[in-house]
Amino acid sequence: MTKTLATAPFLAACRGEEPSRLPVWFMRQAGRSLPEYRALRGSGSILDAIADPSISAEVTLQPVRRYGVDAAVLFSDIVVPVHAVGFGIDVVPGRGPVVEQPFAHERDLERLRPLNPEQDIAYVIETVEKVVEELDETTALIGFAGAPFTVASYLVEGGPSRTFTKVKALMHREPELWAQLADRLADLAIAFTGAQIDAGADAIQLFDSWAGSLSPDEYQRFAMPATIKVMDALASRGVPRILFGVGTGELLSLMATTGADVIGVDWRVPLDVATKRIGNHPLQGNLDPALLFAGETVIADATRDVIRRGASAPGHIFNLGHGVMPDMDPDALKFVVDLVHTEGVTIAKEAQ
Ligand code: CP3
Repeated sequence: MTKTLATAPFLAACRGEEPSRLPVWFMRQAGRSLPEYRALRGSGSILDAIADPSISAEVTLQPVRRYGVDAAVLFSDIVVPVHAVGFGIDVVPGRGPVVEQPFAHERDLERLRPLNPEQDIAYVIETVEKVVEELDETTALIGFAGAPFTVASYLVEGGPSRTFTKVKALMHREPELWAQLADRLADLAIAFTGAQIDAGADAIQLFDSWAGSLSPDEYQRFAMPATIKVMDALASRGVPRILFGVGTGELLSLMATTGADVIGVDWRVPLDVATKRIGNHPLQGNLDPALLFAGETVIADATRDVIRRGASAPGHIFNLGHGVMPDMDPDALKFVVDLVHTEGVTIAKEAQ
């Protein structure tokens, strides 16, 4: 079905146009807290569930049905492209991506050959096509990839990290090798998101979830060039490009110069403050996910506050400051969606 700025509130907000209602979706809304997801998912690796288009299309659609959100986010993972080219990575439940042999030497670059979407990730293409068939013209499909730095952090650290010591050591000690690694990961992200757009995705989000571990100088020297390469490659595709990271308060003004159309903000920076740092970009965010556990009075107050502050930007897509957590109550998320939809436009107009 054809989606336009007039029919899809999410797309209108991404373009800085006035949406018919304030759009809302949640990062990590697919999977995680939904009982209907756990029933379908089984106990194998999430990469197996992702490789089955009938499962992954259904999981993508479940939150749209339950919550009535304005966008679906593809059920996939940021490690899918590196897995598909045979780097040797798995996703361990409760832990995250784990690599058998971490990236350490120049010869490891050979383990990151180019992605050939039709052969390597035909299941992603099929999933996108299935989802697009099911969505109506008001609901957008967001495709995504991991930004080069965040994906590299898993490849170099060998798994989730708090300190990012190995990846930081690599970028400072061997900047040329780092640049080649980041460049290969940019190419994978470009091929991965390009295939999703070809198959019908309406927007792309680049998850640079762990960029907040970098200083502004490190971000500029080591993360930005490859992120800009991805944004540049997608520029001509005509879909909104969203850039998101956690703990990026000191990076927001740099992120705004990567070419991204929309900047995702975590809960630490109020959206009106973010607007001052970023300038003329629509914003996405930023309800503190922890508050979903604090009861409806707190949730309602905090949701209204986010909407008021979001009105400072030329467009606002309501979201959490980071993702849905596995133990979140789906009813609390539904409560947020309904409140954003019924009161959002009115509150935002009053705040302007
Ligand atoms: O809404 C969605 O969840 C859409 C699909 C999606 C997944 N991963 C599926 C998934 C998306 C958008 C991602 C992105 C992703 N993956 C990011 C960036 C987003 C963010 O949260 O910052 C990152 C850093 C990853 C890597 C990754 N994969 C982590 C850290 C984990 C968590 C491990 C855990 O169990 O807590 C995963 C696993 C994963 N990816 C799950 C899902 C639904 C949960 C585990 C499962 O169901 O097996």
